[in-house]
Amino acid sequence: MCKMLAQWTVLLLVLCFKSIQAISKDDLLVVSVATDETDGYRRFIRSLNIYGYKYEIYGLGQTWKGGDMKNSAGGGQKINILRENLARYKNDRTKLILFTDSYDVIFTQPPEFLLNKFKKFDSARIVFGAEDYCWPDKSLQYDYPLVESNEKRFLNSGGFIGYAWDIYEMITSKEKIEDTEDDQLFYTKIFLDEYTRTKWGIVLDKRAEIFMNLNGATDEVELPILNDEVYVRNSWTDSVPSVIHGNGPAKKSLNYLSNYIARAWSPTVGSLESKENVIDLTKIEEKQWPMVYVAIFIEYPTPFLREFYDKIFNLTYPKSRLAVLIHNQVEYHKNLTEKYMSKFKENGYKFVKYFNHDDDITEGEARQQAMYVIELTECQEDQCDYLFVVDSISQLDNPDTLTKLVSFNRTIISPMLLRPGKTWSNFWGDYSDEGFYKRSPDYVDIINYNKTGSFNVPHIAHCYLINGTFFKRFTPKYIDASIDPDVKFCQSIRDAGYFMYLNNEHKYGHQTDPDNFNTSLIVPELYEIFNNLHDWKARYIHPDYYKALDLNTTLQQPCPDVFWFPVATDEFTYDLVKVMEVFNGWSGSAHNDARLSGGYENVPTDDIHMTQVGFNDHWLFFLKEFIQPIQQKVYIGYYNDPPKAALNFVVRYMPEYQYKLRPHHDASTYTINLALNDVGKDYEGGGCRFLRYNCSIASTVRGWALMHPGRLTHLHEGLPVLKGKRFIMVSFVDP
Ligand SMILES: *[C@@H]1O[C@H](CO)[C@@H](O)[C@H](O)[C@H]1NC(C)=O
Ligand SMILES: *[C@@H]1O[C@H](CO)[C@@H](O)[C@H](O)[C@H]1NC(C)=O
Ligand SMILES: *[C@@H]1O[C@H](CO)[C@@H](O)[C@H](O)[C@H]1NC(C)=O
Ligand SMILES: *[C@@H]1O[C@H](CO)[C@@H](O)[C@H](O)[C@H]1NC(C)=O
Ligand SMILES: *[C@@H]1O[C@H](CO)[C@@H](O)[C@H](O)[C@H]1NC(C)=O
Ligand SMILES: *[C@@H]1O[C@H](CO)[C@@H](O)[C@H](O)[C@H]1NC(C)=O
Ligand SMILES: *[C@@H]1O[C@H](CO)[C@@H](O)[C@H](O)[C@H]1NC(C)=O
Ligand SMILES: *[C@@H]1O[C@H](CO)[C@@H](O)[C@H](O)[C@H]1NC(C)=O
Repeated sequence: MCKMLAQWTVLLLVLCFKSIQAISKDDLLVVSVATDETDGYRRFIRSLNIYGYKYEIYGLGQTWKGGDMKNSAGGGQKINILRENLARYKNDRTKLILFTDSYDVIFTQPPEFLLNKFKKFDSARIVFGAEDYCWPDKSLQYDYPLVESNEKRFLNSGGFIGYAWDIYEMITSKEKIEDTEDDQLFYTKIFLDEYTRTKWGIVLDKRAEIFMNLNGATDEVELPILNDEVYVRNSWTDSVPSVIHGNGPAKKSLNYLSNYIARAWSPTVGSLESKENVIDLTKIEEKQWPMVYVAIFIEYPTPFLREFYDKIFNLTYPKSRLAVLIHNQVEYHKNLTEKYMSKFKENGYKFVKYFNHDDDITEGEARQQAMYVIELTECQEDQCDYLFVVDSISQLDNPDTLTKLVSFNRTIISPMLLRPGKTWSNFWGDYSDEGFYKRSPDYVDIINYNKTGSFNVPHIAHCYLINGTFFKRFTPKYIDASIDPDVKFCQSIRDAGYFMYLNNEHKYGHQTDPDNFNTSLIVPELYEIFNNLHDWKARYIHPDYYKALDLNTTLQQPCPDVFWFPVATDEFTYDLVKVMEVFNGWSGSAHNDARLSGGYENVPTDDIHMTQVGFNDHWLFFLKEFIQPIQQKVYIGYYNDPPKAALNFVVRYMPEYQYKLRPHHDASTYTINLALNDVGKDYEGGGCRFLRYNCSIASTVRGWALMHPGRLTHLHEGLPVLKGKRFIMVSFVDP
């Protein structure tokens, strides 16, 4: 959408310099009626301030009786409030009054521009915005004058400008209007009556010069850039309007535009608005930091929950200003959760609470129940400044996440979390008429960090910070039989007119994928190499592996052409051995082996194959991902992708059973031999000897792999284990 439109540059400049100073900008007063200081209200005021408008807002704090304007007629109360407040200008023949709605309106140009446009309406004394729909009484459409094909025909009362004298007369022309009557209908009748139309010189802004009503016109929007500022251009009426009105269902389009227009965005600097109103926590004593309730939701079995908890624990926010509430719906996660609850308690958190899980309730009910507890007992009583909702799939890798979010000072803000390597994120840029996900034009730029800032978006999930004052006004809803709790949550917030922001100015972390996480497995995370590779690597790949991979690092060669490098963490070795020990189907070193296609093993070991524990595909992926790059580095010129290996197994040596292996070649191009436990601690003796070189490697290291050619040159034997148990993982690559 953000296209540079050269011809518009020219036009805007012309407008700018043509300004005749007959009416001064000080004669223009913007007035609006607003009963609540909503997010939309603040956005409106911001735009007025940005461009230096004089304004007066009427009705703040009053009870709104004008009906639900989104879905039905109403709004008469606006006229009544105007009547009261504009009385003071009723004799003013020079003052120009510009009325607009507030919650769904943004100004995008300075008053000088706007006044110039008004002057071009010549003899008109009141100009109303126009749109393509005749509302609320469709039958009146035939009474309207015809317009050109690229013009808007019907009056919209969300914005009008005129002389104070005329406007006051117009709004008081009828004796009485009920608060619940429709204001647009009121003005429509005045416009359609030729007598009153002429009397007050009323015309419609058919070409959207001043007022652009977005309903039905969102396809007409372009976002040209001029002097590093983004404007709205209406491509249909060929104009660059000054006042943008997200009437009716077009509120979401206005929210989208609000990320860019009114100097919210600079094409060269990025987001400007996200830097406004920020709280500088460093200037506040830690004791005084806002109190944040961290509400953790574990609603489904989730991989890497331990890391999840560690990252919450690692947040750089004073623990005395944090309280933790955990809602765990998953029996499998109970032990770990209790462990971390103790850890939280011991570390000075304000308090730690646990909501008992109940297997019979849905996720939506669970979330709602927790929300009520938090909201009613805590936030509404002013005990929490913020609620920080974190679902178990949100891995907050950046310990400053919470501090950053608090400093943004928004009602609701979410840190962008992506599934690594995917376009899957925790927000939507847009939604369809049916309420489902829709990709916004800027979605890809946001997830790629090409655009960074705080974005007003229609849907966030899994991790968000809510200002506690919000709960005094509204309780988000989670329960709906037909849609997901997240979807319902956002819908309820949107419908109530609150904004949700997504911030990507920092890298905050990522999301795990809980689908297919099988808690029946002995060590479920070990099997997550496909679904959650990022987390799998963090837990299971040796931190020094990446250094070994570096072309400038020379790998150790304990024997000729035998390479030795760190690849797996200690945890990997413990977990793999655990899987094998629990499975316990050791082969017993028999020559006859039903697991092999030939049924016979010439040099048998006491082992368990990866296929037996459902880990073979995982292991092959491991070979491709982590072993092959090392192979290509040391055995230059050999390339077989992906590496194949029919035999992948864990061998157990112990004095009581098999304790050594006679000299043999391997049925492989190269062999991987990964040490799974510690010599001198778990066992004594053991190791591997290459006969041709009379070279032994006895001091193997847990998590380190030996790589050696299989046939011809590297005849080798397994040295006797004298005490304890020795485990190695062996793989014959490219047989
Ligand atoms: C937070 O934002 C509100 C407006 O939303 C503003 O009134 C307030 O001053 C801001 N707080 C700080 C500390 O800047
Ligand atoms: C938590 O912080 C400690 C200490 O800085 C660090 O060693 C550890 O890796 C962190 N844990 C996670 C999961 O980030
Ligand atoms: C939780 O701990 C108890 C007691 O130590 C143990 O019996 C149970 O198997 C553990 N549950 C899980 C899911 O690990
Ligand atoms: C929450 O929002 C209110 C209203 O915008 C603001 O006054 C208050 O400062 C915010 N609370 C905190 C703790 O920032
Ligand atoms: C987005 O950023 C990436 C690098 O961060 C760059 O390669 C790409 O061209 C950018 N895309 C756009 C549309 O600007
Ligand atoms: C989960 O693991 C168990 C134990 O290995 C297995 O029997 C079951 O089929 C697995 N479930 C799924 C859905 O893969
Ligand atoms: C490897 O060393 C060369 C020469 O010292 C250097 O130019 C290069 O940047 C190094 N590469 C890496 C990946 O460190
Ligand atoms: C092999 O090496 C060992 C110890 O390093 C040595 O004692 C032995 O004599 C060597 N054998 C041969 C045949 O060189």
